[in-house]
Amino acid sequence: MAKPWEGRFSKKTDRMVELFTSSIDVDMRLYAYDIQGSLAHCMMLAKQSIISQDEADQIIQGLGEIKREIEHGDFVCDHALEDIHMHIENRLIQKIGKAAQKLHTARSRNDQVALDIRLYLRDETTNTINALMELMGVLVDLAEVNINVVLPGYTHLQRAQPVLFSHHMMAYYEMFKRDADRFADSFKRTNILPLGSAALAGTTFPIDRDFVAVELGFPAISENSMDAVSDRDFIIEFTAAASICMMHLSRFSEELITWSSSEFNFITLPDAFATGSSIMPQKKNPDVPELVRGKAGRVFGDLIALLTLMKSLPLAYNRDMQEDKPPLFDTVDTLRACIDIFTKMLPKLEINQEVMYNAASTGYLNATELADYLASNGVAFRKAHACAGKAVAYAIENNKELHELTLQELKLHSKIFKKEIFDFLTPEKMVERRESYGGTSVTNVELAIKAAKKALGKLSTPNESTAPASKNGKKTGKKT
Ligand code: ARG
Repeated sequence: MAKPWEGRFSKKTDRMVELFTSSIDVDMRLYAYDIQGSLAHCMMLAKQSIISQDEADQIIQGLGEIKREIEHGDFVCDHALEDIHMHIENRLIQKIGKAAQKLHTARSRNDQVALDIRLYLRDETTNTINALMELMGVLVDLAEVNINVVLPGYTHLQRAQPVLFSHHMMAYYEMFKRDADRFADSFKRTNILPLGSAALAGTTFPIDRDFVAVELGFPAISENSMDAVSDRDFIIEFTAAASICMMHLSRFSEELITWSSSEFNFITLPDAFATGSSIMPQKKNPDVPELVRGKAGRVFGDLIALLTLMKSLPLAYNRDMQEDKPPLFDTVDTLRACIDIFTKMLPKLEINQEVMYNAASTGYLNATELADYLASNGVAFRKAHACAGKAVAYAIENNKELHELTLQELKLHSKIFKKEIFDFLTPEKMVERRESYGGTSVTNVELAIKAAKKALGKLSTPNESTAPASKNGKKTGKKT
């Protein structure tokens, strides 16, 4: 197979080097975007009379056929052709000959690969946001159906105060909402056309970058050719947002794992989402959340790999950058798999409402109520806290819960206690009274659920909100 650069070389590339430098096994995934980019480039070349319309027609037809060949599995890969760009170009030359050799005019693989990744990541960012929104929808449903379920809220993994299970679910909703925002934000910087930067310095041909931008639905074109061919920030941003999202999923996983243990028994995982042990017949293991928790580490690794890859690289393109694809693709796939499996698993969780309630009723979670009661009756909070603390110590010593103490016993610690205090000590009451904005009261959580439902129905994906300029051949106007 002839190399495009063979004019300059007198010796054939070593086979070992061909295998070492080849990336086709990885970047084959970009074929549709590579063809999409080439089509737009070709149309622009014809429009600018850099190639003839007849040549463009041949190229367009040929690229269409190549796409079908790849989709039907009839495409032969050869490591000697390095990457997806050269594979497609080479096949086009085989098919239509001379005209194909003009396609690469005013273009370099450096701006071509930058374009392909942006086109790919634009789609995948939208897919990720959509997947996240489905997951958020599931959380909202779960919160709505279980609105009266109370469980202990924890700090330091010690029982702290009762909260609504729905409030707990909506906490994850908030995290995923921020994740979706982060993806939508990085999308803006992905959605910029690098093509037309050529190798690094731009081109001598009278190209029309705005035309290509409109064709490919980019609202902006890159400002600096050197930056455009060597910028991988948008990949790093996606992977950083993915890492944070995986961190959230790992926290959720950890809770599901803990809650499904016999020590907690707050939830029962669906059989279809757990596995048994080959030796211990009683076991039902929470493999899905465990694997999600583990996969978070992989995605963090991808982020570090990308940062390390780009660290200290001089301008402009360096071959090192070919190594950006394995971690990016791995992150896209891993995150998506984790989001999707959570979306499927969560509605099937069995919520052991009674166990949760009992856990929220024991362990002195109502101690704060004693202190709050005294404080709202004129005792300074620090003093009130000390009195409540003494009451807790007394109760522990006497092997009782706070609500099991008599009024007389409570009065040993403060004369201010009256019989009405016992109305404040149930988990429901404690939840109900936390009406401060963002607190766990049913009223608050119902409002949060309502707002979330509204937002989910209304939220638009970045593809819609940054709708590409219409295909009317007009200038995109805005540049970044
Ligand atoms: N396969 C290469 C990559 O992914 C394409 C760009 C190659 N450019 C070059 N000058 N060798 O980065």
